[in-house]
Amino acid sequence: MLNKIAVPLILIVICSTALAAGKDKENKFDGEFWNQGTHFQLTGEAIAIGEDGIHDPTNDSAMASLQQPEEAMADFPRDDFGLLNWVKTLDSGLITPRTDMFGIMDPPTPLDLNITFTNTGAMPNVIFPHRPHTLWLDCLNCHPAIFKQKRGANKFNMTDVFSGRFCGVCHGKVSFSPTRNCMRCHSGPAK
Ligand code: HEC
Ligand code: HEC
Ligand code: HEC
Repeated sequence: MLNKIAVPLILIVICSTALAAGKDKENKFDGEFWNQGTHFQLTGEAIAIGEDGIHDPTNDSAMASLQQPEEAMADFPRDDFGLLNWVKTLDSGLITPRTDMFGIMDPPTPLDLNITFTNTGAMPNVIFPHRPHTLWLDCLNCHPAIFKQKRGANKFNMTDVFSGRFCGVCHGKVSFSPTRNCMRCHSGPAK
């Protein structure tokens, strides 16, 4: 059995080795670097593998063998801000994500159910579409932890979304940011 002192010691050794490796090569391989979260390619131009905050830029064989997003995503549709539109990318068949690691599970059955949010001030209503979400996500990713499964049962505003709650649990992290693309969510008719 591992004792309580051994575990932190191992972690310290791993962390300091990683930091030392980074310093040797004069790159940004430190805590801040790994938290950039740019590996979902949400903003602007394609981010190189070694700068995405998830791949180790000091691993020369990985850097040499992995396909760069700029090449892999060259034909992927982008929105008016030049950001990747993953829904169109999926719908156009450019990618076929696996349901599980071995590709043996059936693909999810999408749910065709739109919910309209009307507490939007002068902005157009928000139309929440289940379909593009349930093409990639399980019901359990949202219900019940993020959203109670009942129309009108979740009270929140835009500040919550900007602060990473409700829609903001994903939007701005793994999906398009709420600080741009207002109209992609506020897609109802003008008030
Ligand atoms: C990821 C989806 C999403 C995006 C993107 C988004 N919103 Fe919202 N917004 C919502 C939802 C959901 C509500 C809550 C509606 C409700 O509770 O009925 C809301 C509510 C609002 C409200 C009314 C409530 C409040 O906090 O005053 C305003 C104003 C608003 N949004 C402005 C914006 C602006 C401006 C942008 C772009 C900078 C934006 N939103 C982008 C989803 C989004
Ligand atoms: C990305 C998040 C997300 C996922 C994934 C998701 N839902 Fe929802 N669901 C919502 C939101 C948001 C609402 C509206 C809640 C509100 O109005 O406050 C909702 C509402 C519902 C409602 C209530 C409808 C009504 O008229 O009261 C049902 C039923 C529902 N979802 C079923 C499902 C099922 C079944 C799945 C999986 C196939 C699923 N949802 C996946 C976010 C999600
Ligand atoms: C559990 C994660 C998650 C939550 C929570 C979530 N979304 Fe999404 N949403 C996604 C993903 C993933 C996509 C597809 C990738 C992309 O377009 O960036 C997406 C796409 C969308 C799209 C694009 C649809 C299209 O056809 O282009 C809209 C609109 C949207 N979400 C609105 C919302 C609103 C409004 C909420 C809150 C009520 C919300 N989402 C909550 C993950 C989430």
